[in-house]
Amino acid sequence: MTTATSPHAFWLAGREATGDETFEVTSPWDGRTVGTVSVPTEAQVEQAVAAAAEAAAQFAATPAHVRAAALDHVHRRLAERAEEIAQLISAENGKPVKWARGEVGRCVSVFRWAAEEARRFNGGTAQRLDTDAGGTGRLALTRRFPRGPVLGIAPFNFPLNLCAHKVAPAIAVGAPIILKPAPATPLSGLLIGELLAETDLPAGSWSVLPVPNDRMPSLVADERLPVISFTGSGPVGWSILDAVPRKRVTLELGGNGAAVVLADYSSDADLDHAAQRIATFSNYQGGQSCISVQRVIADASLYDRLVPRVVEAVEAQVTGDPADDATDVGPLISEDAAKRVESWVDEAVAAGARLLAGGKRDGASYAPTVLADVPADATVSCEEVFGPVLTLTSVDGEEAAFAAVNDSKYGLQAGVFTHDLQAAFRAHRALEVGGVVIGDVPSYRADQMPYGGTKESGVGREGVLFAMEDYTYERVMVLTGLDL
Ligand code: SIN
Repeated sequence: MTTATSPHAFWLAGREATGDETFEVTSPWDGRTVGTVSVPTEAQVEQAVAAAAEAAAQFAATPAHVRAAALDHVHRRLAERAEEIAQLISAENGKPVKWARGEVGRCVSVFRWAAEEARRFNGGTAQRLDTDAGGTGRLALTRRFPRGPVLGIAPFNFPLNLCAHKVAPAIAVGAPIILKPAPATPLSGLLIGELLAETDLPAGSWSVLPVPNDRMPSLVADERLPVISFTGSGPVGWSILDAVPRKRVTLELGGNGAAVVLADYSSDADLDHAAQRIATFSNYQGGQSCISVQRVIADASLYDRLVPRVVEAVEAQVTGDPADDATDVGPLISEDAAKRVESWVDEAVAAGARLLAGGKRDGASYAPTVLADVPADATVSCEEVFGPVLTLTSVDGEEAAFAAVNDSKYGLQAGVFTHDLQAAFRAHRALEVGGVVIGDVPSYRADQMPYGGTKESGVGREGVLFAMEDYTYERVMVLTGLDL
């Protein structure tokens, strides 16, 4: 911790505040200081939680038009400030600015969707109960109400949009939210706070607190925060669920996304397309997406034609300064992260894998890498690499391909390159994942879709409406004595 003269304030119950200590946010690309951030004290965290609990009933009763107007305001301001925000994301995260621009565009859409859903949500359903004699004159009216204040814990890899996925649905349903951005990338989350501060939302309804990870257990355990939405690593996520099994916990964890290329996807144009998409989405944001392509599983009949195309497309990825418009692949979040990736690739090669591209580290940057003949028990096969590395595997037929996808402890999303509609439905049925993308890589995500995994990839679903459902529960009101 250092003391700085003008640190970024955090947002405590809708108002700017500073604590006693600060920390530096540095660029993973060149190590320069991107910002200095004030850390909330224990007492300030307590104030934020108390304010959220205090605001809960009032916020739940806020008219939909008020919540929708605030969400509309945020998406409009995000769009107005898009380029500046993209530069900020790129600076704190090291993500190439072209990908950061895409992230801002998605964030605009998350807040826009949340505004629209806020207007539609909770219209109520009526159910007649006079289907049995005891229910004569009775009607059940069911509406959804917030479970209570939400603790949203966001990761570094989409420092703006994955904060938005916690915040926007909470505001849409009238649930107070305490957002905790990732320590490496807090500035984008704090910027969401800046835009929320321009709205008329009740002060206690939101806070953005850059609390250090080692202080999170007490916040997680706090009974005034009955809902936790966490995106991040498996060990941390599962430890949260173990610590508070009675809370409503959503976990968006890792994956080792597979792209399957089935035998019918075999024309030169098909293979060129698949190779291009695979190369792009195994390397976007340095592979630091839970749905980046990590495993390519290709039918043996086309494998030898696909491999050189993938290698060529991977080698064509432009690496370098994330601020440069031409850059496809920047650094990883830290040198330690790149060293971990390096050690996993080295381990695979020592165990017999063939290195077809990449395999080199320079500080926090790791070259786009392609491996073939990787042993099934190598770490790069079994774990989430979260780096620009893909493995190539040849299989005989569709059943073997789907079995290979499922031969993983993870189950987030899978991509299947095929033109065969029946194969698409078979994939949808067979693959043990939260999402199957036909004709593309697993990395496709539209922010209104349900998003989440099976197995060790997590529990629950995000996606604006799905998070809104998660943050609320049905409460029925029975009306009696009605002249139905
Ligand atoms: C993630 O890494 O889980 C998020 C992926 C995305 O939002 O595209």
